[in-house]
Amino acid sequence: MDKILILDFGSQTTQLIARRIREIGVYSEIIPGDSPFDPEILHGVRGLIFSGSPYSVYEDGAPLLDKNFYETGLPVLGICYGFQRMTEDHSGKVASLEKKEYGRSPIHVLSKNPLFHDIPEGFISWMSHGDSINTLGEGFESIAESKDHPAMAFNSLKNLYGIQFHPEVSHCEYGIEILENFVCGIAGVSKGWNMDSYLTEVSGEIKQKVGNDKVLLLISGGVDSTVAGGLLLKALDPDQVHLMYIDTGLMRKNESAEVEVILSSLGAKHLHMIDASERFLSSLEGVADPEKKRQIIGDLFITVQETEVARIGIDEAYLAQGTLYTDMIESGKGVGEKAHVIKSHHNVRSPLVEAKRKAGSIIEPLARLYKDEVRALGLRLGLSEEIVHRHPFPGPGLAVRILGEITREKCTILKEADYLFIRELKKRNLYNKIWQAFCILLPVRSVGVAGDAREYGYVLALRAITSRDGMTADVFAFDSVDLLEISSIITNSVKEIGRVVYDISSKPPATIEWE
Ligand code: XMP
Repeated sequence: MDKILILDFGSQTTQLIARRIREIGVYSEIIPGDSPFDPEILHGVRGLIFSGSPYSVYEDGAPLLDKNFYETGLPVLGICYGFQRMTEDHSGKVASLEKKEYGRSPIHVLSKNPLFHDIPEGFISWMSHGDSINTLGEGFESIAESKDHPAMAFNSLKNLYGIQFHPEVSHCEYGIEILENFVCGIAGVSKGWNMDSYLTEVSGEIKQKVGNDKVLLLISGGVDSTVAGGLLLKALDPDQVHLMYIDTGLMRKNESAEVEVILSSLGAKHLHMIDASERFLSSLEGVADPEKKRQIIGDLFITVQETEVARIGIDEAYLAQGTLYTDMIESGKGVGEKAHVIKSHHNVRSPLVEAKRKAGSIIEPLARLYKDEVRALGLRLGLSEEIVHRHPFPGPGLAVRILGEITREKCTILKEADYLFIRELKKRNLYNKIWQAFCILLPVRSVGVAGDAREYGYVLALRAITSRDGMTADVFAFDSVDLLEISSIITNSVKEIGRVVYDISSKPPATIEWE
C-alpha cells in the first residue's frame, strides 16, 4: 500500500499529523527523525513529512537528519522544526524570536503553488514556534508569508516544501486541505486507506502466516482484544481460533456473561471461559498493599493462562495480541520515549509471550491501527457502538478500586454500585462525553441515619474524567442534579453504602485510579 512516512523530531503533534493523513484516506507511518537512511524503509513510500520538535536547530542535542533523505526524489513537507531543519541543512539561517509566536496567525499567499490548490489567498493558520527563518535555504523561494516571516517556502529543484505553521492542528484553517494537497496532489497517493481495505489486507496476511495452524487470543472484555477476536474469526476458519477469557472475580457486573454472548455472536467455536475467581480472591485475602495486589494478580494470571493452555493442548498455537500502533511506538519500534500509552494487563511480558516472540509465533493484527481505527474496524466487524465505545478498564480490575483489603462482600457492593453509576450515565447520554467513569469503595465507614437508629455504611467515591490518552485528565463537570440523583439511586439500592462523594481532582496531581 502507498504510504506517507513521517520523520518524528519529538513534536507533541506528530501523532496528529499521522492521524490527519489517515483521516484523508492515506496510510501513514512514523519513524524516529534521526533514523539512518535505509532504502528498505522507503518501500511503498510516496512522500515524506518532517515533524516539529521541542528543540531549536541550533541547540546542542537538536535531532539531526540523515541528508540522504533529501536525495530520494520524493516530495518532502517540513513542518515547523522540519522546515527549519531543511533550511539549516540547505545553508539557510534560523534565529530565535524575541517573543514566541503561539496561536492564530494570518497568512498571505504570494504565489500559486500546488500546496495551495483551492485555498484562498488569505487564511488564518496556527503557529507554535520560538524560532523563525531569517534567510531561506539555497534554492528555496517564499510562497507565503505571515506578518513577520516566510510562512511557507518551496524548493522546486528538490521537491521540498516547508511550512512554519501546523496544518495538523484543528484550529488551522485549511489545514486538512493543505495536507491533502501535499499527500494526494503533490505526492500523488490515491485515497484507499479505510477499514474495508485494511480488513482485506490484514486478513490475507494472517492467513498466510498461520496457514492451517491454531491461534490463541486472550480476551479481556476490552475493545482491543474483542476486535482482535472478531478479526481472527473473520480472517480464519473459526475452528482454528481459540479465545480464552480468565474471570478473576474482579470484573464488572455481568461482564463475563456479556463477553461470552459477544464472542459467540462473532462466530467463536472455541471459547474457553475460565472461572478462576475463587483462586484470585483467596490469594488476595488479607492483602492491602496496592502493588502487592497487582503482583499477585499478574503472577496468578500467568499461572492460570499457562495451566489452561497446556490442559486444552494448544501449546503450539500462534499467540495473537491486541497491541495497537501506539503500543508499538512506545516499545521502541516507532518514536520511542515520545509517545504515551496505557499499559494493557494482557500484553505483559509473560514467559508464554516471550517464548512465542522468540519463535516468531506472535500475531498483532491491530498493530498498525490507532484506537479510533480499531473502533471503526469493530463496527465493520459487526460489534455494537456500545461495545466499541466502552471506557478503558484496568487489568487488575476492581482490585485497585477496592482500597485496602479485598473481600467478596466488597466486590459485590462495588460491582452493583458501579453498574448503577454506568447505567445512569448511559441513560442521561453522558457516557460518551466521559473518557472513563467508575466507582471506588473506600476502606472507611461513616455514620448515617436509618429510621431512628445510627448506622455505619461504606463511603463510595465516584470518578468521571475527560482525557485524550489517560496521561492527563480533567474532572467531568456534571450538572449537580445528575450527581444528586445518581447518589440517591446508589444509596437507595445498595444498602451497605451510606455516603457518596465525587472526586474533583484532576491528573496531575492525582492519578485516575485511586491505587
Ligand atoms: P492512572 O491511575 O495511572 O491511570 O492515572 C491511567 C489509565 O491506566 C489505567 N490503569 C491501569 N491499567 N493495569 C492496567 O491495565 C494497571 O495496573 C492500571 N493502573 C491504571 C487506568 O484505568 C487509566 O485508564
